Amino acid sequence: MTEANAEVSPPAAAQRLSGRTALVTGAGRGIGAAIATRLGREGAHVIAADIDAEPAEALVAELTQAGASAEAANVDIGSNESVAALADSVKQSHGECAIVVNCAAILDMTPMTGMALDHYRDVININQDGAIRVSLAFLPLIKAAKTGRRIVNIASIIGIRGARECIPYATAKGGVISFTRAAACDLGADGITVNAIAPGFIDTRMAHLPDGSGHEHQTDWFQDIYMKYGRILLGRPGNPDDIAGPAYFFCSDDARYVTGQVLLVDGGVSATF
Ligand SMILES: NC(=O)c1ccc[n+]([C@@H]2O[C@H](COP(=O)([O-])OP(=O)(O)OC[C@H]3O[C@@H](n4cnc5c(N)ncnc54)[C@H](O)[C@@H]3O)[C@@H](O)[C@H]2O)c1
Repeated sequence: MTEANAEVSPPAAAQRLSGRTALVTGAGRGIGAAIATRLGREGAHVIAADIDAEPAEALVAELTQAGASAEAANVDIGSNESVAALADSVKQSHGECAIVVNCAAILDMTPMTGMALDHYRDVININQDGAIRVSLAFLPLIKAAKTGRRIVNIASIIGIRGARECIPYATAKGGVISFTRAAACDLGADGITVNAIAPGFIDTRMAHLPDGSGHEHQTDWFQDIYMKYGRILLGRPGNPDDIAGPAYFFCSDDARYVTGQVLLVDGGVSATF
């Protein structure tokens, strides 16, 4: 295994986000949990929000036991009422929220033939509108933060490249990328940076096959196209920590002059064909 492929732990935390409140949606598991953990290790007070309350609470218990500051929150990013209630509760308890990481989403595999427009709209409502809904509701709280104002959106390479049976998911993720650039234009004057990460193939529950028979990374399809032909240049699917580091970067002071950008974190898939 080359050094680039070695599994490495994130560097020792230096409390560089100390004094900042960070909302992470979809923090119950997978990439969101890794981002919440990283931001907590860096000293942020983390609000780990998820539609699934139990794993978010379990994560918060782990984080607080490890000395981080965190709380769990129950939210459905597809619901105006639920998101408004969360923003209201954060306003009451913290008065501000410097960092918003929009990570929650659902995977959807629907072939175009037979796709119902209502189904498409349901996926857009969560995967695209969810990020916009949360950002709108939290904007006054981001503006209320004195420093380190950030929005980070988790998009996908499927928002940039095509993939089969993915019209609702791909369109939503493309929308998240466009939202990122357009919001960066509107919010630059307020010192709010807005950036996106487009992950490639990451080893989370989202990558499990819909019929529960296994994992897409173990299928012949994946092994042939992505591994045999070297389409993942770094030779392995990603793991959630591979995304948490870049997400932390966008949240950090080091990224203070970076806005409207989309960083592809995909082991090199998009660099080749
Ligand atoms: N895993 C991948 O290969 C991959 C690739 C590209 C992009 N992404 C993106 O990364 C993000 C995280 O994905 P993951 O792989 O960790 O997925 P995951 O399914 O493991 O986790 C998603 C989390 O979001 C939560 N969630 C779902 N709907 C919600 C809602 N309406 N309101 C609040 N929370 C909700 C789930 O409960 C879950 O905890 C998503 O935006 C996904 O589209 C993942």
